[in-house]
Amino acid sequence: KVLILDFGSQYTQLIARRVRELNIYCEIHPYNKKLSNVTEYNAVILSGSPFSVRGEDAPHPDLSQIRGKKPMLAVCYGAQYLAHFSGGEVAPSNTREYGRANLSFIKNDEPFFDNINAGSQVWMSHSDTIKHLPTNAVLIASTNDVTNAAYRIEGEETYAIQFHPEVYHTTDGKQLLENFLVHIAGIRQDWTPQSFVEETVEDLQKKLGNDKVVLGLSGGVDSSVAAVLLHKAIGKNLYCIFVNNGLLRKNEFESVLKQYEGMGLNVKGVDASKRFLDALAGIDDPEKKRKAIGNAFIEVFDDEAHQIDNVTWLAQGTIYPDVIESVSATGGPSATIKSHHNVGGLPDFMKLKIVEPLKALFKDEVRRVGATLGINPLLLGRHPFPGPGLAIRILGDITAEKVRILQEVDAIFINGLREWGLYDKVWQAGAILLPVNSVGVMGDERTYEKCVALRAVESTDGMTADWVNLPYEFLQKTSNDIINKVKGVNRVVYDISSKPPATIEWE
Ligand code: XMP
Repeated sequence: KVLILDFGSQYTQLIARRVRELNIYCEIHPYNKKLSNVTEYNAVILSGSPFSVRGEDAPHPDLSQIRGKKPMLAVCYGAQYLAHFSGGEVAPSNTREYGRANLSFIKNDEPFFDNINAGSQVWMSHSDTIKHLPTNAVLIASTNDVTNAAYRIEGEETYAIQFHPEVYHTTDGKQLLENFLVHIAGIRQDWTPQSFVEETVEDLQKKLGNDKVVLGLSGGVDSSVAAVLLHKAIGKNLYCIFVNNGLLRKNEFESVLKQYEGMGLNVKGVDASKRFLDALAGIDDPEKKRKAIGNAFIEVFDDEAHQIDNVTWLAQGTIYPDVIESVSATGGPSATIKSHHNVGGLPDFMKLKIVEPLKALFKDEVRRVGATLGINPLLLGRHPFPGPGLAIRILGDITAEKVRILQEVDAIFINGLREWGLYDKVWQAGAILLPVNSVGVMGDERTYEKCVALRAVESTDGMTADWVNLPYEFLQKTSNDIINKVKGVNRVVYDISSKPPATIEWE
């Protein structure tokens, strides 16, 4: 496996994605975390960083356990760090070194550049530049503007590159990583969804033995894949609970429950709609709504879990982006924009041990594992849906009637996306009920009714997103259907805000 030492670059997760696309397992760890087990890794990659090596607060880790002992690839900041502390010189660059460049020189017979030719496009993003290479370095590639674009250290398997192999615009980036990891470090490419399933099932069986495990299903991809994986490992000792908080999509509770039963899972459906709606009565502040739902969920789940005799484990569908401790550039925790609630947030008073079989996977890998496990592609392809459900899409206070209106509107929109073949082109879509009445005219009558907003975004991870350019004909048809069929709504608008500065959900 490969260790990626994170210096806080916005691209660190991308490095991990690329390595895994090569069917090689890797982990990201913050540079300042003491690693006791460096020997377990077959190679190390140093990430980029927003810092300058010359800055006072810049990361200056001790690499003595790694250098010369493990194959090492230093990217961008990593390359500068290596130069700065090994007899080279790093200085502010006087030309801009951002964006596209081409390798104008590649040294002959370097295995690092196997199958890569001069002219290959690379992506730069740095303000310092390496003026002089470190001691024992051999220059292996340059661009027109950046002479020291890549070097290696004589007598070590240490390579350094100023450009970013992990970004899409570095055309041969993946080949370069393969050259380093496979040709130079000799790592086998045997980490596949199939091998992940086999190893994880075996590990789970060892870890859980005959113990009972409880898991909260949400209808989403992560908890479903976690459940099927655990079920494969421990069968009837897995107890799933699927809570209807009354804020799900139209008919979702019944249809998803049926689907789970069809998959052979032991699922208890708990209809707690009333409890949630009571807990939400009269609350219109978004954060208070989230807290109320989170608390109600914990109570319901706790009650249910206590009815299972001798259960000792709580399983969660946590995935890798939730657990990476990335290095924040400011050194401090980032601001809480929204307090996210999902099944992940259960408190320790439940006294259950935690098992998280998907903790090492990215979302698309979870989907691939799900496919290997034979899970229905329709379930695997579902749009993300927030834990607090429609509550954060009903602006202002929540009533059963508002939930009903929004469920109808949402169903027309989502079914329409499916019918028009647009569902899989959109990362996430939904409708929002605004706390606004507007005047309309239906027949000869004046109306004064609700307005709904439709939102459809494209994204890869929900961190940034852009609105989707849905066909006008589709929007026209959908708007018509909604106003004609859903009583209480006389106006439909389409949300054309990107994230940032907006967010995907309105609350
Ligand atoms: P925002 O609104 O922050 O949403 O742009 C980003 C992604 O997160 C989802 N989301 C949630 N998911 N519990 C969840 O499980 C939550 O409390 C929650 N709030 C937002 C949102 O749907 C989008 O996919």
